[in-house]
Amino acid sequence: MTVAFDQHPTNPLRQSDDTRLPRIAGPSGMVIFGVTGDLARKKLLPAVYDLANRGLLPAGFTLVGYGRREWDKTDFEDYVRNAVEAFSRTRFDDNVWQRLAEGMHFVRGNFDDDEAFDRLGEMLRTFDNTRGTGGNWAYYLSIPPQFFSSVVHQLDRCGLAAPTEGQWRRVIIEKPFGHDEESAHKLNEIVGEVFPERSVFRIDHYLGKETVQNILALRFANQMFEPIWNANYIDHVQITMAEDIGLGGRAGYYDGIGAARDVIQNHLIQLVALVAMEEPASFSPRQLKAEKLKVLRATSAVGPFDETTARGQYTAGWQGSERVVGLRDEEGFDPSSTTETFAACTLSINSRRWAGVPFFLRTGKRLGRRVTEIAVVLKRPPYQPFLPGQTESLTNNAVVLRIQPDEGVLMRFGSKVPGSALEVRDVNMNFSYSEAFTEQSPEAYERLILDALLDEQSLFPTNDEVERSWQILDPILKHWESSGRPEDYAAGTWGPPSADEMMSRSGRVWRRP
Ligand code: BG6
Repeated sequence: MTVAFDQHPTNPLRQSDDTRLPRIAGPSGMVIFGVTGDLARKKLLPAVYDLANRGLLPAGFTLVGYGRREWDKTDFEDYVRNAVEAFSRTRFDDNVWQRLAEGMHFVRGNFDDDEAFDRLGEMLRTFDNTRGTGGNWAYYLSIPPQFFSSVVHQLDRCGLAAPTEGQWRRVIIEKPFGHDEESAHKLNEIVGEVFPERSVFRIDHYLGKETVQNILALRFANQMFEPIWNANYIDHVQITMAEDIGLGGRAGYYDGIGAARDVIQNHLIQLVALVAMEEPASFSPRQLKAEKLKVLRATSAVGPFDETTARGQYTAGWQGSERVVGLRDEEGFDPSSTTETFAACTLSINSRRWAGVPFFLRTGKRLGRRVTEIAVVLKRPPYQPFLPGQTESLTNNAVVLRIQPDEGVLMRFGSKVPGSALEVRDVNMNFSYSEAFTEQSPEAYERLILDALLDEQSLFPTNDEVERSWQILDPILKHWESSGRPEDYAAGTWGPPSADEMMSRSGRVWRRP
C-alpha cells in the first residue's frame, strides 16, 4: 500500500523513504512447499517471474521447490517455465528468465522426511554463500493445513526457522486456515510454536488487490464519503463476489469446504472490515490491525439463519453460450455432498456508526457473470417534494466499489429526465481505473510475495483477525450442518430463490451487477 509506515526497528530510514517508488526486496530466497499444486502453477510461480521481470527481486534471488516428484533442477525449470509462459502477466524475456532459472532448485521429499529436510537445510546454507541469499528465507506453505505441523517442525529441527542476528526467516501461509475457529486456533498455535507472529504472513489474496486497497484511500483521503458513511445515511451494504467458473479440477479441495469457508470467512469478511472500520491513527500494520480487529469484534451473524442466510448448489445450465454440467456431475465431486457453491448471509455491526445497518454478503460459483463489488446503499431522503409518479423510477442512491473485473467506483443518484415534464430517474456516474490511469495494477500475488520479502505486514491478516472471522461464521456453518441439502440453482443464474427471499424479507433487493 502506498502509505507512510511506522518507523521500522531494523530499518530506521524507512519512514523517510519515498513511498511512491517501488521497493526492491533485499538479498533473499523462497522455498515453496506444494509447488506442484494449482495455485503455485497459476499464481505463485508466474508472480515470482513478474516480480523478477519488473526488477523487484534481488540479483541472487533463489527459488526452491519442495515436493514429491522425482525431479531434478532441469525438470523443475521446465515446469516453472511452462507455468510462467502460460500465466505470467508480463512479457516473456529470455534474459530475465535465464537469471531467474539459475537460482531455481528442487528438493524431493515428503513433508515429514528428515533426510530431505536435512538436504534442504544444506542447500539453503550453501546458497547463502554462493548466491548471496544472506540467510534470509521465506517459506511458502501452499499445502493442506494438516501438513503445517510437520513442515514447520522440520524447518525448526533443521535450524531453518530461527534466524541468526541480522537474518530473517518468514513463513507465508495459504488458506484454508482451519475450517472453524477451533481448528484455526490450533493451527495458529502450531505455527506459533516455531515462528513468532511477526514472521507469519497469512495470505488473503483479496487484500493484495489494488481496488481493495483503494477502499481505504476512497474513505480516508476524501471529504465527501466519510460524513455519510454511517447509519444516519446508509440503509445497507451488499457485497457480492460472483464467479462464472465452476469447480473445474478443484473438486478435491472444494468438497467439504464450500463457498462460505472458501471465500466469506476470508475475502468477504476482510472487505466488511475495510468498509466498516474506523479511521486508523496511521496506516502502520499495528494501527490497521487494531481498527480491523475492533470492527470485527463488533460484527456478528444475524439470525434466524433459515431466514437470513441462503445456500445452494449449481445444476446444469448455460454459461453464456456454453452448456455446463451441474455440480453433482463435476469430476471428483461426491454427488451426495451437501457442500454449497453459493452462500449468502447477513451480518450486523454493533457500533454507533453501524447499528441497524445490515451487511449482506453473497458469493457463488457458476453465477451470471464474474464480478466482485461492494454496494453501499443509502437511505431515501426523509422528504421528497415531488409527486409520487415523478420519482417512480428513482431508487436509493448508492456508492458501488467495483473490485473486479471492471475496476472502479460508480455513484448512482437521481437526475431529471430531459424534457418539459418533471421526472427523476437513476443515473450512474462512473470512475474506471483503466480510463483514469495508465499504470497497470500488479497482480495480487506479486504484491503480497514482494511485501512478505520486504517485511511489510499491512496486507496480511493476523491470527486474531482469522480467528475472529471464524467466530463470526461458525454459528451459520453449524446451523447449515443440520439443515439438509442446499437448494439447487441453475448455472448462469444469480443463485437459489432463498437468496432473493432473504433480501425481500428485509425489504431490499440484490443488485444485478
Ligand atoms: C480463492 C478461492 O480464494 O479465490 C477460489 O479459493 C476462487 O475458489 C478465487 O475462485 C477467486 O479469486 P479471484 O481473484 O479470481 O476473485
